[in-house]
Order: sequence, then C-alpha cells, then structure tokens
Amino acid sequence: MHAQSIGILGLGAYLPEKVLTNFDLEKIVDTTDEWIRTRTGIHERRVSEKGIATSDLASKASLEALQNANLKPEDLDLIICATITPDTLFPSTACYIQNKIGAKCPGFDISAACSGFPYALTIANGLVKSGMYKKILVIGAEVLSNFINWKDRSTCVLFGDGAGAAIIGEVNNGHGIIATYLGADGAQTEILKIPGGGSAIPLTVETLEAGKQYVYMEGKEVFKLAVRSMCDAIEKVVELGGLRIEDIDCLIPHQANIRILDAVTDRAGIPSEKVFINVNRYGNMSAASTPVALYEAVKQGMIKKGSNVVLVAFGSGLTWAACLIKW
Ligand code: UT7
Repeated sequence: MHAQSIGILGLGAYLPEKVLTNFDLEKIVDTTDEWIRTRTGIHERRVSEKGIATSDLASKASLEALQNANLKPEDLDLIICATITPDTLFPSTACYIQNKIGAKCPGFDISAACSGFPYALTIANGLVKSGMYKKILVIGAEVLSNFINWKDRSTCVLFGDGAGAAIIGEVNNGHGIIATYLGADGAQTEILKIPGGGSAIPLTVETLEAGKQYVYMEGKEVFKLAVRSMCDAIEKVVELGGLRIEDIDCLIPHQANIRILDAVTDRAGIPSEKVFINVNRYGNMSAASTPVALYEAVKQGMIKKGSNVVLVAFGSGLTWAACLIKW
C-alpha cells in the first residue's frame, strides 16, 4: 500500500548577500529607479560573487530544508534540480549538489525555466506516490547574473540570483499535494531564450560577439501570455482539486513583474492580501522564485496548518504549472 498523502517535509532558501539596487543599475545602464519600480515593482535583487555557481546556492538551501525536515543527506532517495543556469551543460547540477551536501542518491536536472519548481514538485509527487522513492529533494536555483547582458537595460534590471529547496515525502493524511497541472506551448520558444551555447548555436567568437550567450526576451509578448497561462493554471488546479477560487488561502505566484501579478489576481478574482509578493526584494529568480516565496510565506505566518496554497508559475518554453497544496 503506497502513501495516500505526499507533501513538503521541510523548506530551505538561500539568497546571496550582495544586494544590487535600482540606483546601482542607474550607474551601469541608461535606466532609472522610477522606471524599474513602476514597470516591474522591483526595488533590488541579489547577485552572486564571482566564482559562485548555482550548485553553491542550491546546496545551502538544500541543507536548510533537510534540517527543517529533521533529515540527513543520506536519507535522500533522489535529487531533482530545476534550473536554467546549470553549473555546466553536463554533468547535471543535481550531481554537483549531491557531492556538496554529502548525499548518495541519484539526481537529475529539469529544464522548465520559471515553471521549473512546480514541474519538479509534480515529478517528485508522482515518484513518491508510485512507491519508488520515499524522500526527494526538489530544488529551484539560479545564478542568472552570469547569463545576463549587463549592457541590455531591457533585461538586466529584471533578474536576480537565489535558491529554494523542499523535501518531498509522506505527510499526514488529508494534507499535502492535492493536485498539479502542467502546460507548455512549444510554438513560443522564440520569445524568451538563451539562443547560444546549445547544439543549435554552439558558441563561437562570432556568436559571442553577437551576445547569443545572454537572455533574450520579447517582454510585451511574454507579459500577455504570462497573464493568460497563469490564470488558466490556477483555474485548472483548483478545479482538479475539487475546490473553488474562494477556497485559496494563499497564492504563491512566480515573481516576474508586479503588474503581471496584479493582472492575474484581478482576473482570477483572488484578493491581494492572499497573494505573497517578494519581487520587490529579489526580482525574477526564475526557478528559484516560487520556492523562495513559499519559504518566506511559511516563515512569515501567511501559510498556516490547513491553509490551501496554490503555487503558480510560467516561463520560457513557454511553460506554465500550478500545484495545490493543503498545508
Ligand atoms: O519569468 C518570465 C519572464 N519574463 C517576464 O515575465 C517579463 C514580462 N514582461 C515584462 O515584465 C515587461 O514587458 C517589461 C518590464 C520587460 C517591459 O515593460 P513594458 O511596459 O512592456 O515596456 P516596453 O518594453 O514596452 O518599453 C517601454 C519603453 C521603451 O522605450 P520606447 O521604445 O517607448 O522609447 C524601452 O526602450 O521603456 C524603455 N525601456 C527602459 N527604459 C528605462 C526598456 N527597459 C528600460 C529600462 N529603463 N530598464
């Protein structure tokens, strides 16, 4: 007989200490604090020191999650790392993390951009439910600062570095992950991507000079699709879980832009006091945004035992995803 309820046993987060404010950015590119705040809601973001890789941030978040779950690295059965800024193209960042935290289990990465954490949570939920594994470490971690063109004002003001981690396993009946929903539209691969460095456009002097190694985004198009796909994901996951929108106690959305979040919650009919926001402090941390937000919402008491929590994200791919969790 396999587990009836699968949920989160412990959470962890790690943010680099170095803060980069909008005023700091005014000195680097032609922008203003006022433009960034009014168009995005971002006031500051964290950036890693030189030489720090995604697995470094991920390992710190993972060790805290293990501690909060009262577990040791050797108790883990699997590591799944969601990232678009891996330490290397291969091996996987999960393998670097395994070594750094002293775990012995298998591990792999998934690529679903900003939707990576709810995607990974969905995989972990299925694997524990099947009885294959008991304890899975799920991580969303990014060092985006190494993949941003710091001369491009339309993207460099948006992103930040960070990591969040969760341990997935059996929880008390009636709690845990109630429903998950994943979506993707491969017709939209061109509007948000790092074009170079893969097999399609390997890095050469020419592609490096053309900046193909950096994040490219058609912001307006992404904005429109973000609102539509997040609203869709919220509605679907709530319906799959047999609840109504009014039953949501806390919404943990991907933190890309405050205007996107306002539009989503407005359209979905969720009051703003139920929505957790930290985009002002960290910017868009891609796969790290939702686990860090979840960690902070629990820590600040916004999520309590019994709360119905919806995690929702969208990102490059395009991908979108939602998880409904009874805390
Ligand atoms: O995690 C997934 C990812 N991404 C997103 O969710 C991002 C979605 N998109 C957005 O959040 C918004 O589209 C942006 C914040 C990226 C841009 O906001 P916008 O209201 O769509 O602005 P815009 O791109 O239409 O640009 C308006 C103006 C332009 O000038 P002109 O052509 O009107 O003269 C830009 O050149 O603002 C200019 N601009 C800037 N000005 C000052 C663009 N970036 C900046 C900047 N500082 N940093």
